[in-house]
Amino acid sequence: MNIKDTYIKFFEERGHKYIPSSGVIPENDPTSLFITAGMQPLVPYLLGEKHPEGKRLVDVQKCFRTNDLDEIGDTTHHTFFEMLGNWSLGDYFKKESITWSFELLTTKFNIPKEKLAVTVFEGEDNIPRDEESANIWKSLGISENKISYLGRDDNFWIAGSSGPCGTDTEIFYWASDEEVPEKHDPNDDRWVEIWNNVFMQYYMDENGSISELSQKNVDTGMGVERITAVLEGKNDNYETSIWKDIISKIEEITGKSYYDERYTKAMRITADHIRAIVMISGDDAGIKPSNTDQGYILRRLIRRLIRYAKMLDVDINSDFEQELALMIINQYAKYYNELERNKEVILKVLKDEKVKFNRTLEKGLREFEKIKNSLDGKTINKDLAFKLYDTYGFPIELTEELAMENGLLVDKNGFKEKFKEHQEKSRTASAGKFKGGLAGDGIMETKYHTATHLLNAALKKVVGNDVHQMGSNITAERMRFDFSCDHKLTDDEKKQTEDLVNKWINEGLEVTKQIMSKDEALKSGAECMFIEKYPDEVTVYSIGDISKELCGGPHVNNTKELGHFKIKKEESSSAGVRRIKAILE
Ligand code: ALA
Repeated sequence: MNIKDTYIKFFEERGHKYIPSSGVIPENDPTSLFITAGMQPLVPYLLGEKHPEGKRLVDVQKCFRTNDLDEIGDTTHHTFFEMLGNWSLGDYFKKESITWSFELLTTKFNIPKEKLAVTVFEGEDNIPRDEESANIWKSLGISENKISYLGRDDNFWIAGSSGPCGTDTEIFYWASDEEVPEKHDPNDDRWVEIWNNVFMQYYMDENGSISELSQKNVDTGMGVERITAVLEGKNDNYETSIWKDIISKIEEITGKSYYDERYTKAMRITADHIRAIVMISGDDAGIKPSNTDQGYILRRLIRRLIRYAKMLDVDINSDFEQELALMIINQYAKYYNELERNKEVILKVLKDEKVKFNRTLEKGLREFEKIKNSLDGKTINKDLAFKLYDTYGFPIELTEELAMENGLLVDKNGFKEKFKEHQEKSRTASAGKFKGGLAGDGIMETKYHTATHLLNAALKKVVGNDVHQMGSNITAERMRFDFSCDHKLTDDEKKQTEDLVNKWINEGLEVTKQIMSKDEALKSGAECMFIEKYPDEVTVYSIGDISKELCGGPHVNNTKELGHFKIKKEESSSAGVRRIKAILE
């Protein structure tokens, strides 16, 4: 049985419209790097906005839990997972939701009802005990002693700390060969949660107060990996049909057995990470390995993958990662067709990051051994941890992992301080210019300052939207501009960038200045390098409609004043950062 298709068809037959998964980055939510639940992309519709596909939806959403990569390697945790969900947006409520869940589980998934137990909300001051759900379950034949009433920690659901929320009823399956007990015991983990039906009728604000939403919604979530393990009778998710092929492939590549305990964990991590990497790099958001945010998670996953592959004696210079990635793409493209579209990007991201890391990995591991043997106590100090990061490209988490494997500790806080200091240092050179206006404030410096904005905008157009300014330095003679970019610019890219800047100069674009609140500026999409350095009221400079940046100025009034722009040099500045030197003639 194809579980996802069965689920989707079941709800389609009950008036639900299948919608494709949203991308992996939550919109309008800077507090989480990735989507972690199916409801996140639907928040506006839970709050009352009309969804173009109607009031009943069904989908399978790409989700991630990346807070604790250390947990990966056991039988049940995954970095990427899929969540099936069906939604009522102000349409049906508890009765249909519970009845359909019961029907799908017992008639399509063929689970005997005796193996099911449920929990419902026990009630508190402002929110009543959920007798309604309990009664519906009873009417379907779930016996009273298989229904547990629990409090807020278990039966109230919210993503984060504010937003749409509500009480829920969770469905558990007896995942053991032993006889099903008479009574449900919420503390017995042989009862495995397989489905969560949230009745979203409240809104919680930042202070924790609850009010009624304008409509009553249903949000349900069923983890594909877990339900698959349950239905296939496996305690180890990696033994299910989801992972079978990829694990076999890893066995084939390494010539080792998954059941050889020395390799089981490394194989699980390899399988888990390659899938997560494909899903992140194959998303239309265009995430690339970097040292911040989503890009940093991607980088860590790839570097971790390489290290574990090495532990499995894989020849890192072979195309093993391409082979594995292609398998994942084939397996998942039916539901996430962006994977097919972005196939070349996925393969390139993986290869480039692998090659980059592989250059320093050996040396870094040798350096780690040296550090280990020369250590006085048990702690790797901040300077050594920073050296591993800066010189050998070891994410601090990798150093920590190696330390743990060797019974050592890492001064992570010290590392973080040092990391910050280092960042500040490389920024202040440009920040000085940036914040208090230009050092010289002469005519040439002013021109270069405007040219910097044009160059920033042109690089985004030519190289891609993930180019960001990392620094700049201006004298009366030249400008220097540092930006995030994972490759050396080609001659063609350089030429296109130069031509675009000159085109804008020749168009005689107006440079305008506006003063607004920092929030307003960010909302309007203005670019800035490090927002925390700006006061609440900021100056925003716009050039025609091609550039908008937070900036202290000063600038020329019209791009015509700049003359002719010429790139003199393009070179590496540091890992993932390129530097352009340019002049105005
Ligand atoms: N939003 C609910 C969950 O993620 C269904 O568990």
